[in-house]
Amino acid sequence: MPHTRKIIIDTDPGQDDAVAILLALGSAELDIVGISAVAGNVPLNLTEKNARKICELAGRPDIKVYAGAIRPLARELVTAEEVHGKTGLNGPQLRNPTMKLQDQYAVDFIVETLMNEPSGTITLCALGPLTNVALALIREPRIAPRIKEIVLMGGGFFEGGNVTPTAEFNIYVDPHAADVVFKAGIPIVMMPLDVTHKALTTAKRTQAFRQLGTRVGIATSEMLEFFERFDEEKYGTDGGPLHDPCVIAYLLKPELFKGRNCNVSVEITSELTMGMTVIDWWGVTKRPQNAMVMRDIDHDAFFALLVERLGLL
Ligand code: BDR
Ligand code: CA
Repeated sequence: MPHTRKIIIDTDPGQDDAVAILLALGSAELDIVGISAVAGNVPLNLTEKNARKICELAGRPDIKVYAGAIRPLARELVTAEEVHGKTGLNGPQLRNPTMKLQDQYAVDFIVETLMNEPSGTITLCALGPLTNVALALIREPRIAPRIKEIVLMGGGFFEGGNVTPTAEFNIYVDPHAADVVFKAGIPIVMMPLDVTHKALTTAKRTQAFRQLGTRVGIATSEMLEFFERFDEEKYGTDGGPLHDPCVIAYLLKPELFKGRNCNVSVEITSELTMGMTVIDWWGVTKRPQNAMVMRDIDHDAFFALLVERLGLL
């Protein structure tokens, strides 16, 4: 029996979130203690439902799914239906889930799990706005030193932003939550747009999922075909960036990524640059290093890993 790593996936599915969840479900090294949904790509009532749809697609109705924050800490919710479609998971026809949503509030679930499990054994994988994670830290600050690591998709620096010239969606939607998380003194691994814009769902790669011939493989190719059309037009690329699975891939094969320890500070004051992740890549300030910021990815090996693991479902 391989040693498994316990993870909580905090997410706003979203097709790329869905592929990240499938990658985790296909990987025996990971033990998903629970999935906490947050408002982001689409409102909370859809993100929690989408998380359950994906668990059922993978034949895992036993996974516990919790609903968390309905809106960001201080700002109005901004969603991204233009990218993900009205349901957040447009593309395949997925059945309405029959597995139940857990009664417990996701933030309470995160706090309770971290307080009850041995310290340093739970990794948080954050694939959406950081509202749930920040609320958990505010509610029970004693969880901070108990978290093994937070691996998150968010931010961008050399690539700029994808919702404003300077801000990436997850951080832009709840910059105040991101500020709380980056200041909490927890080991953070950050997958910014600088990495994810190198992980493109080219036609050949999407086809490889379809060729698995399974329900999961076909649904994945349909999700990606829908999801990539917006970014293909925007960036003029073959395929769109497959953001969130980078987080799970890092847990499985950290050697696929390259980056450096930096200070990351989140802009929460200026409306012009709201949600920008100001990364001190060159160490020009004395601000303390608070995150491992990734910049490069072995994208061929990343897609090979995805096809291999989704093929197991
Ligand atoms: C991030 O925003 C969402 O649209 C994606 O799911 C991803 O988490 C990329 O900016
Ligand atoms: Ca997401």
